[in-house]
Amino acid sequence: MTRFLITSALPYVNGVKHLGNLAGSLLPADIHARFRRQTGHEVLFVCGTDEHGTPAELAARAAGLPVALYCARQHTLQAQIYRRFGLSFDHFSRTSGAANRALTQEIFRALDAAGFIEPRTVRQAWSPTDGRFLPDRYVVGTCPHCGSPGARGDQCEACTRLLDSDELIAPRSAISSAADIEFRETRHLFLKLPALEGRLRDWLATRRDWPPLVRSIARKWLDEGLRERCITRDLEWGVPVPKAGFGDKVFYVWFDAPIGYIAATQEARADWRDWWQAGDVQYLQFLAKDNVPFHAISFPATLLGSGLPYRPVDTIKGFNWLTYEGGKFSTSGRRGLFTDTALEACPADCWRWWLAANAPETSDTDFTVERFVEGVNKDLGDVFGNLVNRCLSFAAARFDATVPEPGERGPLERQLAADLDAHLVRLRAHHEALSFRKAADETRAIWKRANAYLSEAAPWTAIRTDRARAATVVHTGLNLVRTAALVAWPFIPFAAEEVLDCLGEPVAWPTSADALPAGRKIRVPPVLFPKISAACLPPA
Ligand code: 2FM
Ligand code: ZN
Repeated sequence: MTRFLITSALPYVNGVKHLGNLAGSLLPADIHARFRRQTGHEVLFVCGTDEHGTPAELAARAAGLPVALYCARQHTLQAQIYRRFGLSFDHFSRTSGAANRALTQEIFRALDAAGFIEPRTVRQAWSPTDGRFLPDRYVVGTCPHCGSPGARGDQCEACTRLLDSDELIAPRSAISSAADIEFRETRHLFLKLPALEGRLRDWLATRRDWPPLVRSIARKWLDEGLRERCITRDLEWGVPVPKAGFGDKVFYVWFDAPIGYIAATQEARADWRDWWQAGDVQYLQFLAKDNVPFHAISFPATLLGSGLPYRPVDTIKGFNWLTYEGGKFSTSGRRGLFTDTALEACPADCWRWWLAANAPETSDTDFTVERFVEGVNKDLGDVFGNLVNRCLSFAAARFDATVPEPGERGPLERQLAADLDAHLVRLRAHHEALSFRKAADETRAIWKRANAYLSEAAPWTAIRTDRARAATVVHTGLNLVRTAALVAWPFIPFAAEEVLDCLGEPVAWPTSADALPAGRKIRVPPVLFPKISAACLPPA
């Protein structure tokens, strides 16, 4: 038995997340955690809200709330939504907690003592009206490239160019709108990534099995040359910098956020060291491609440079983008489908299935209402739901809702067992390889194989002339329904558990061998997946 430490990228606290966040980190992490638990491994799956940085401060300001209160409310809201999606975190933490503060400061002190921190003087926007330095996102103005009037000091959303705030035309404060911006010198702390390059390269060389998407992004960063990165900001909300002369600054959100994975484990488990410092753990991270540099380069560099015995990641599974009806999801522009609205429109399992079966693994995936409705109705309604319903209803009607005693298996049953064995071997391999689409395809293939067996063996015909044969088929069919629900469980846990409950069975990893004892009472669930239509969903 291997122990698996699984983390999903920590969603920003500033508002309910869209389906892209679910598809590109939270959901696949959950599916994998479930698969590993199901196959008998010990799993620790942690996540939490990423609560620091300018986005949190600005969102709190827009909501008219103190930032601490805003974050507490939004954390609760997100946690509730994720529970309703069936995300089976062992702990859902907050980076603004005491554990993360202490650990971030400890790691910083170790980096500083090891000589990997360097103070530097930089020019930064100062607002006399606000009486403070303004981090890049707090400065808005006209984009020097495209002339858009709403560009931020770090990036112009209209043309996507990265900016420095002193490039903006007619800069003004995002806090007060004051235009009296000056640029003044101030001191910040930098992480000396170039000094860590050798160690990083040696460590990366040991990570041979990373997926191509992640490897290529990490390599590109290294090959373009690492630069010192500023890890402090002039904000009030964040982890305070424990160094003389920097007491009015906090750490940059991307410095403390990944440390939150360790802090979440500390909060969750007294034996947290066994997860972060022992040898027999596999550590897997799930995240979208824009997060790869932080997880493949800066966080490992932080840990390696600190000299503290925290485990850098073993495997990173990165995802491409989920797009929405041919365009980008946008949280600020409220474009796309958001997780709260999605749950109101359809059961969580529908979203989970479609987003996993169409995971943006090797390229971006475009979500369209039409494809979603078609995929869900076919796979969950016509294939899985139909299998469960016709088999259990027949057993209820003709065998008194009891698992019948089987007679001798015939060629159809022998072929079925051989096929199932092969399917299950492939399914397991796809899950182990973190190939979510292939795992979903194989799961669907098992459901289809089960339906094909029932159609061919036709117990409804056999029962007219040969009740013993019909009993064998129903016995086999009920076991097939169990297998179908077990392989479904990582993807659609709500429906799978309902079916298993009807059969009186616990979650386990299936084999082709029969498991249901003759004589057991069963129940028929209500229709699992009533047909959905475009009318169920909000218009694009
Ligand atoms: O991109 C994001 O949504 C970030 N909040 C992810 C942080 S992951 C981790 F490092 F905390
Ligand atoms: Zn622009």
